Amino acid sequence: MNFKLAFIGFGTVGQGLAEILLEKKEMLSEKFDFNWSVVAISDVIKGSIYNGNGLDMQKILELVKSGKKLDEYPTGFKGMNSIETITKTNADIIIEVTFTDIKTGEPALTHIKTALNVEKNVVSTNKGPVVRMASDLLKLAKIKKVFYGFEGVVLSGTPAINLAKFTLAGNIITGFKGILNGTTNYILTRMEEGMSYEKALKKAQDLGYAEADPTGDVEGLDALGKVVILTNVVLGKKITWQDVERKGITEITKEDINKAKSEGKRWKLIGSAEIQKGGVVKAKVWPEKLPLSDPLAGVSEATNALTYFTDELGPVTIVGPGAGRRETGFALLIDLLELNRIS
Ligand code: HSE
Repeated sequence: MNFKLAFIGFGTVGQGLAEILLEKKEMLSEKFDFNWSVVAISDVIKGSIYNGNGLDMQKILELVKSGKKLDEYPTGFKGMNSIETITKTNADIIIEVTFTDIKTGEPALTHIKTALNVEKNVVSTNKGPVVRMASDLLKLAKIKKVFYGFEGVVLSGTPAINLAKFTLAGNIITGFKGILNGTTNYILTRMEEGMSYEKALKKAQDLGYAEADPTGDVEGLDALGKVVILTNVVLGKKITWQDVERKGITEITKEDINKAKSEGKRWKLIGSAEIQKGGVVKAKVWPEKLPLSDPLAGVSEATNALTYFTDELGPVTIVGPGAGRRETGFALLIDLLELNRIS
């Protein structure tokens, strides 16, 4: 298939996908008959550009990496806002990668609803809209006969959502438990080596793991969003962010870390949910001191891990990247290839 793509937001993740698409263009075409052109980009800081015949993405990446605005691209139509880019261009897939607001879901929620309403496919790594109303958006996509993919909202390109949706289909999944935030796992790993909390956080920001506002990471809100998403989408139980007990890592001191070390244990920020008797869900994000024998204790750096509790297989665990430019960009490629397969 041939697809015309439009980026809404063109920060780290969008650029990560653009790099992958460029580097793998031939392979994607030959192996999957997936052919693409990018026709539009709209970003609140970098400006916007539209050319229905396709943009030179190599040039675009060079422009933005040198800190220039999209207005400096030599041809094309400039100045369209995000909504105009979604509704008035000839794009057939909207790639929504603006910043995440877990509580309101905006502005991504409006972008995605608008796109689905005008019958455009959406792929997105934005957690906010999925936390707020995954099932409503999926219903809307179904009514409009378009695709809404969000593999990257949990564990970035490590396929957490698709694993449950496709490969584990037929199991009853009764709960999950995991390390769902890369930034905090990175900070805890560095603190165990003796680095200060502040320095470790700064490093996590420099490496592109942290959210635009890292409070969301360290206070456990990012992991909470992922717990809400997995509970709604995988366990099929409707909860909102207020239903999750939450504590972040900000109160964990060097002394706590050293004490755990001397006990042969390790602090991890664990996100979990379990369907209890009567169908009630208990969902939580909380720091836990795990014995080193626990498989999750061995997951360090920004790596994430997720265990699904299934009726046929027992616990099934995946371990892999949960954040990062290419890793999250790749998650969008997973969705694009799924759309390509079903089109
Ligand atoms: N800030 C998030 C993390 C990015 O550190 O895991 C991926 O959701």
